[in-house]
Amino acid sequence: MASSSSKTVMLVDPDEDFLKWADKHLRTPDTEILCQTDSSKALDAILKDPPDLIIAELYTDPLGGMDLLRKIRLNDPNAMVILTTGFPPTSSVIEAMKLGAYDVLRKEALPYDLRPVVDDALKASDVISSTPAQNPQYLSQEHSGETIIGNSPAMQEVFKMIGRASRGDAPVLITGESGSGKEVVAGAIHNFSRRSGSEHVTINCAAIPENLLESELFGHEKGAFTGATGLRKGRFEQCDGGTLFLDEVGDMPIQTQGKILRVLQSGEFSRVGGNDSLHADVRILAATNKDLEKAVSNGTFREDLFYRLNVVRLHIPPLRQRREDIRPLADFFLKRIADQKRGPRLRLADDASTRLESYNWPGNVRELENTLYRASILATADVLLPKDIPLGSAALTHTTTGNWPENGIEQALEVLITSAGEQPLLPWIETYAAKIIFAKTKGDKNITASRLGITSQRLSQLLGD
Ligand SMILES: Nc1ncnc2c1ncn2[C@@H]1O[C@H](COP(=O)(O)OP(=O)(O)OP(=O)(O)O)[C@@H](O)[C@H]1O
Ligand SMILES: [Mg+2]
Repeated sequence: MASSSSKTVMLVDPDEDFLKWADKHLRTPDTEILCQTDSSKALDAILKDPPDLIIAELYTDPLGGMDLLRKIRLNDPNAMVILTTGFPPTSSVIEAMKLGAYDVLRKEALPYDLRPVVDDALKASDVISSTPAQNPQYLSQEHSGETIIGNSPAMQEVFKMIGRASRGDAPVLITGESGSGKEVVAGAIHNFSRRSGSEHVTINCAAIPENLLESELFGHEKGAFTGATGLRKGRFEQCDGGTLFLDEVGDMPIQTQGKILRVLQSGEFSRVGGNDSLHADVRILAATNKDLEKAVSNGTFREDLFYRLNVVRLHIPPLRQRREDIRPLADFFLKRIADQKRGPRLRLADDASTRLESYNWPGNVRELENTLYRASILATADVLLPKDIPLGSAALTHTTTGNWPENGIEQALEVLITSAGEQPLLPWIETYAAKIIFAKTKGDKNITASRLGITSQRLSQLLGD
């Protein structure tokens, strides 16, 4: 390896023009640049004489950038590798960071980012080569399909954090406004981690009554309290080897906080009413939309627990601060809605898209999802127009499991009240009911018309046929 004063950077990219540009951009009297268009030849050269830094395109031949990264890091767990590409898919960003990439950069940002990132990486390589080697875990590559969308630089950073957090077992504190995606991020950390084959249990600390939370978490012995008719295992025991997600952790009662702290410190806990010390290997993820620092200074959240949970902090910015994500998220949700309804995928008219992009989304991604869901019911054609998009009302919610709302009509009325003046009441409800029943009967017009008590012609009108 080159000495710390002179550095070698290897560039691997099929695009000769890019290589020429990067060579010129990065070359200094102290930095030697090596270029390779063939990733297999690059790998041979890297294994023979490791450079200080490797910058590889994700899409290279014959080995893809991800395979190159994997092979390089298997051989040298400290190797510094940066992957680049046009628009890296979420899963690739997470996977690359998990495999230990130093960074993942977008090609379009390279004129600004490449030089400073390379400088930092080379500095870091000095530090790493003077500290003892670690043995990273190479984890299974299997994970669920793309479920987190985000093109904005802020979300790309979140994906990188997910990747880094998936490598180890440290607690992660996920913060962000309501509906910003804390739960999906927690799910991704679990899915990309070595624990993905084990349980991922979510416990909503705000939704469980204070007196039951402890027994929910740690279980109870028979007779521990009135109603405890038998022994019950708690969530900690249930997800031994897995991940426990403490959602709304800011609402956890102070006594329970002390018990959680004990588990985090020693891995030990006792069932309610029991004396035995039990042990479980559980990774803790926690989320809150509260300001925990403030709760600590108010005395409602234990400072020692805060520091234990806050080992890795992952903040998800509100949607209004990453408007580039609105359009891709909208496309993602419209596809999901079409799949659920087994219907056509609605397109967004340009001015409808502008309407979405310029709105402030106080309820964040959840509000966007619900709005599109409502819009898909209101739409009379396969394209969404601005008039079909009722903004500012989060009343008609649908669950994250993707089910149609149980009490749809009541919720629809609430929508109408809050978006008063936009829609005349009765035709809207008729159309709404027709579409719901039509979808529930998987498109059976006869049953739909008969359940509604209308003719098939009238149904066709309502469905906009
Ligand atoms: N980046 C994303 N890509 C795709 N879907 C997302 C994304 N962020 C959020 N969602 C979706 O938005 C909804 C709300 O997300 P989630 O439940 O994770 O938010 P939250 O921050 O936990 O909200 P709350 O604070 O209210 O619990 C979910 O249906 C989720 O699937
Ligand atoms: Mg949540």
